[in-house]
Amino acid sequence: MSDPKPLSRRRFIQRSFAFSAAASLSGCGWGVAPTTQDPVTGGVSHYLMVGDYGLAGNDADQTSVASAMQAYAEKWKIKADALLMLGDNFYGNMPGGVDSPRWQTQFEQMYPSSIFDCPAYALPGNHDYQNSPQSKVDAELAYAQRGNTRWRMPALRYRFTFPALNPTVTFIVLDSNMPNEKAQPIPPAGSNFYTPTDAERLDQLAWLEDSLAQPLLTPFLVVMGHHPLYSNGPHGDNQTLIRDWGPLFVKYRVHLYLAGHDHDLQHLEFQGHPTSFFISGAGGAELNTLGDRHPGNFGSEVHGFSHLQVRPDVMILRHLDATGGLLHKFTKTPNGVVTIVK
Ligand SMILES: [Fe+2]
Repeated sequence: MSDPKPLSRRRFIQRSFAFSAAASLSGCGWGVAPTTQDPVTGGVSHYLMVGDYGLAGNDADQTSVASAMQAYAEKWKIKADALLMLGDNFYGNMPGGVDSPRWQTQFEQMYPSSIFDCPAYALPGNHDYQNSPQSKVDAELAYAQRGNTRWRMPALRYRFTFPALNPTVTFIVLDSNMPNEKAQPIPPAGSNFYTPTDAERLDQLAWLEDSLAQPLLTPFLVVMGHHPLYSNGPHGDNQTLIRDWGPLFVKYRVHLYLAGHDHDLQHLEFQGHPTSFFISGAGGAELNTLGDRHPGNFGSEVHGFSHLQVRPDVMILRHLDATGGLLHKFTKTPNGVVTIVK
């Protein structure tokens, strides 16, 4: 499915059984949507996610979002099973790499273990593919190998099921950075950006299909990468990912694709497509302005984070702002029924 039709606003609304008139306005418009406080209940798995968060030299907005995540977890007594770090983990210069003090200030202390006593599964964004002065991707891989940290990045692509006891989700984590003419495997003079090679792209694509073809032993299948396939943000749709990954998402009925990259919060559904596209890229970097490339979907241009709650019979997804207020909420069943709640 290379060119899916957007789910019309009418159909989006029709698929909801708990959808107020006010919610239809807030859920489908751009800008700052009104928020509500949404009690979190149920003894289930919880994952808090954040993307595009680690600015160099100015962590005010990152701190604001991280503080809201902590307050949210405490308020609703959420013991997160894992954090999902959706890339652009470190913008700008990071002298010292694996030994940089930014590991303490912008990860360990920013998302403290006293609140988030759980692994933090990370993946590389485009800003991580930056020699500043050495490879930050290499530094992130090396930091995970040191032990005594919650940071998990065992490879640039990996697969895991969670939680350990009676797992409900299979996560496939991918490197969404693709070869392009703006950045080469060996940074050209005057540039510090680089990208994977085309051989690496094809190698990962083969790995992805092998991974998807394994028997699914959990009710839900979630894929994560930094770049969205589809987005109403300024970076737009990613034609390489749509071409390479889109048909596999359809073939293997991926429930959910988590991404960042655009600095906002989005949720896109497409008619006949089994995958919900969920973007959480508002963790601290300067916000983007949303467009209307795929009308009828949710988007909000605010700083914030997101929450994935999983029971065997349903996933619940929420976008929350930097006060912990609920912006958007939907549920999805193992057989793919999406219900917009707010
Ligand atoms: Fe990015």
